[in-house]
Amino acid sequence: MDGVTVIDHPLVQHKLTIMRKKETSTAGFRRLLREISTLLCYEVTRDLEMTMETIETPLQEMQSPVLEGKKLVFASILRAGNGLLEGMLELVPSARVSHIGVYRDHDTLQAVEYFFKAPDDIAERLIIVVDPMLATGNSAIAAIDKLKERGAHNIRFLCLLAAPEGIKSFRDHHPDVPVYTASIDSHLNENGYIVPGLGDAGDRMYGTK
Ligand code: URA
Repeated sequence: MDGVTVIDHPLVQHKLTIMRKKETSTAGFRRLLREISTLLCYEVTRDLEMTMETIETPLQEMQSPVLEGKKLVFASILRAGNGLLEGMLELVPSARVSHIGVYRDHDTLQAVEYFFKAPDDIAERLIIVVDPMLATGNSAIAAIDKLKERGAHNIRFLCLLAAPEGIKSFRDHHPDVPVYTASIDSHLNENGYIVPGLGDAGDRMYGTK
């Protein structure tokens, strides 16, 4: 699928299988989410631009690669996006963090923002927007609308599971934003859940159901 990368690393797929199981505990789900998010982060940052820096080892001077440009921004779509943040920040501790609370009004179809916090200079940074589930795509589309309104233009979207319907809608709205996911599942059900999925990601990570 154009613009969509499925992260099929065996460790990702193994951990995802355990997360999908209904008997996996809240503590287990949360631990696996943290573990899997480091692996997903590794893949979504695989092609970051590098520049050479002159350093001195104990033996001699050398040219050595470092990341080019400003620090990354991880933008979490509340609340389930926060579950992906922890592991990602372990891998990139210097990343900046944005939190976005947004939903799409069913009647007006307008994005309603109830919380937004991000660095001022998001126009100059790569933003990795995270939400475990790309279901209808509505909140991801709305969150990225809000980031773009504030000048962001270098954006990637990372999730754990995606529904084909959500991917289509997302790519129709934001064809410039590549999607990274561990799985494209079968379909959305009438309640907007991804099938076979893993249930409500927020409830499973916070034990709220
Ligand atoms: N959000 C979830 O947490 N789970 C789904 O299956 C769909 C949306």
